[in-house]
Amino acid sequence: MKFSSKIFSTELDTRIIAVHSPKIRNRIRFALISDLHSSRYGDGQQELIDAVRAGKIDAVLYAGDIFDSRQSDTPTLELLSGLSEYPSFFVTGNHEMKNTDADKNRAAARSFGICVLQGNETSVEINSQRITVCGVDDIYDSEEEFLSQIENVRKPLNDDFRIFILHNPEIVSVYEKVTADLFVCGHVHGGQWRLPFINRGLVSPRRTLFPKYSSGLYGIGNAKLIVSRGLSKTSTRIPRIFNRPEIIFIDVCPSHQNI
Ligand SMILES: [Fe+2]
Repeated sequence: MKFSSKIFSTELDTRIIAVHSPKIRNRIRFALISDLHSSRYGDGQQELIDAVRAGKIDAVLYAGDIFDSRQSDTPTLELLSGLSEYPSFFVTGNHEMKNTDADKNRAAARSFGICVLQGNETSVEINSQRITVCGVDDIYDSEEEFLSQIENVRKPLNDDFRIFILHNPEIVSVYEKVTADLFVCGHVHGGQWRLPFINRGLVSPRRTLFPKYSSGLYGIGNAKLIVSRGLSKTSTRIPRIFNRPEIIFIDVCPSHQNI
């Protein structure tokens, strides 16, 4: 590959990030899918679907902006349909909330058997391992509604491993308010341009330079935060630089004491 095509490459990337917890006995592998913005990955989204299946996952976490307020819904619907065999969990991003059809987006997700989270939590068993998954709508539409959803999911209902899906990792007040073992987010698109060597993103959608959370794994107190660089290829005229779109496979694993 020529150097210039490496800089601007939008070739799909995948990586595995492991999170360990004494609450886990059996490993669960999730695909974290964020900020697709209805971008196209081959006929029928086959490239994405094949990549997820090749990851031998157990479940899917959709962290918002899967739909896009300015793009056709068709590529997104093809992806949701193609992965409907997996237990899946969905929250809105700012694009779904901006879209006057946010309810339609949620209804479409539900029609594929996806659990839509709006300030609530669900307890599920995957690989004989019980966990809870909770999530909230993006703050875009109404801060009051966002805070009320946060209040609903502040405290866990049980001691199970708890995943919290939130579109925007920059709303840091959430990390103080909500108890969770793992937060998963997107929204920042890796900072659009990734700076080699220091491995930082340049700018967030809110024009913050060098956003603190833009790609990969972070510690938030005793919890972990994983931020996807997202899958958008077409929603902005600014090219991605050193910032290939990605699917993150998250391995929630036993801690070393109970392996
Ligand atoms: Fe977003």
